[in-house]
Amino acid sequence: MPILKWKNIHRTILLVFLGAALLNAQTYSKNGMVVSSDKSSSQVGANILKKGGNAIDAAVATAFSLAVTHPSAGNIGGGGFIVFMNSEGKTTTIDFREKAPLAATNDMYLDSTGTLIDGINHKSALSIGVPGTVAGLYLAHQKYGKLDWATVVQPAVDQAQNGFVFNWSLYRAAQYFTKNEGTNAFMDEYFRNEEGEVTEPGELWTQPELATTLALIRDNGRDGFYKGKTAKKIADFMKKNEGIITKKDLAKYEAIEREPIKGTYKGYEIYSMPPPSSGGVALVEMMNLMELADFKTIEFNSAEHLHLVAEAMRRAFADRAEHLGDPDFNLNMPLAKLTSKTFAKERFKGIDMGKASVSDSTQFGRLYDGESTTHLSTMDKEGNAVSLTYTLEYSYGSQMGSDELGFIFNNEMGDFNPQPGITKSNGQIGTAPNLVAPEKRMLSSMTPTIIGKDGKPFLVIGSPGGRTIINTVFQTVLNVLEFEMPVDKAIEALKIHHQWLPDQIVYEKLLLSPDTRKALEAKGHILKERFNMGALMGITYDPEKQVFIGASDSGQPDSGAVGY
Ligand code: DON
Repeated sequence: MPILKWKNIHRTILLVFLGAALLNAQTYSKNGMVVSSDKSSSQVGANILKKGGNAIDAAVATAFSLAVTHPSAGNIGGGGFIVFMNSEGKTTTIDFREKAPLAATNDMYLDSTGTLIDGINHKSALSIGVPGTVAGLYLAHQKYGKLDWATVVQPAVDQAQNGFVFNWSLYRAAQYFTKNEGTNAFMDEYFRNEEGEVTEPGELWTQPELATTLALIRDNGRDGFYKGKTAKKIADFMKKNEGIITKKDLAKYEAIEREPIKGTYKGYEIYSMPPPSSGGVALVEMMNLMELADFKTIEFNSAEHLHLVAEAMRRAFADRAEHLGDPDFNLNMPLAKLTSKTFAKERFKGIDMGKASVSDSTQFGRLYDGESTTHLSTMDKEGNAVSLTYTLEYSYGSQMGSDELGFIFNNEMGDFNPQPGITKSNGQIGTAPNLVAPEKRMLSSMTPTIIGKDGKPFLVIGSPGGRTIINTVFQTVLNVLEFEMPVDKAIEALKIHHQWLPDQIVYEKLLLSPDTRKALEAKGHILKERFNMGALMGITYDPEKQVFIGASDSGQPDSGAVGY
């Protein structure tokens, strides 16, 4: 059977439906597009575009809004990354990853015998990294935004102050956190209304303390968070809860502009996040391997396709574990080598299409999985594009926050390698590049990415999902560039995940045929099912029709693309 030419089918559909109000997984628009995990936040971003804001303004406004509407991952208490391409095709990135506090040490999660204390790096106030989000959004806006700062922050203040419609995902979270009353007072209170009742779906949910915190940011920029009243309250909270973040940590935090990781794939340009994210390096490494494969003979979702993809993942994740960490602490990471076509050629020779390789359990991989991050993509009519992923690490982060400030702190310190020198076959890593050190940024898998065509943004994409992020972004990019799928199909299509260790392929349960599963097992792969992977938010631009096409992952029912 020939490979389906999704693009041709898609073009026909597009011509038929353009201009009509569609009940379609894709949204079309002429002047710009915002896609995020919450449709009302996407609307906030689209309104900013309508006011004359650019893609950066829209992304910043949407990110602040998600801190109100999507607090499991949208945040001001966490950190993340922006990849930005301007209308002239110039690209840059903003790193606002959290940092280890000044008092952090590489044995802070071990007991006196050197044993890792169970869960401490993810569950206590010691799991909280110095937040980067406000500094990152501020830097991006100062350098590349068009509207004034107060205009882009105000919609989030309004949503927190006046409320927005409580949705089903929030209600489910509220049920979870209130069922064990007393175990976590902050989260137990978090979703209650003024009468002390858990907010019901369809009711307006207001967050007055968060509105006050956001208003200080609106009025004072980054200093409204890292200095003054908010900084003092954060430091007081840490002291009371045995955390180690101080006012000095907050005052010293800086977001950093960095060069993107660049690659190519059959005439397309790839721009993604450099370290402290591992996403860009791994994505380019895997796309280089894919470029060497003969896709004329490898059909989508065949055992050959999935085997090849899994073997590429295995190799990229091994390199990730061995080499990558904060670039300010690891000055000699072999980034040029890992992303080179020559290296890919050598690597490709080692892939046996008949047989799974073996991940050596004395080497690398990762154990700790996060559960909540969120991605947003924006494009404007001038041709600027923003790919922004930010996170609290777990869903609702550390599940800790100050009543007076109304936002939740991350538990990102859990992304450091917790036990120096101890690497286990179950995936716990102990390599040096990502050990805890004061002021170091923990290694991330977030992979905000922009694919360019002829120097203009063509696809803007990213996802949550811990280590699976790299692989869901990789497969979505491959689906669009190689299998010519429209963005919604590329997002919804089967995703698999291999991270070297544990040595297994995780697959989306209802999307992999049993026959293919057996064929993969016959090649020596171990398979493990999972219901869903990632929550991709993407935009493509069709230069011929001059139309933006936005699509959000159906796995996130409150997400949405809003065009203008
Ligand atoms: O930066 C990272 O790689 C992780 N903290 C991301 C966590 C995550 O994506 C959880 N999401 N579903």
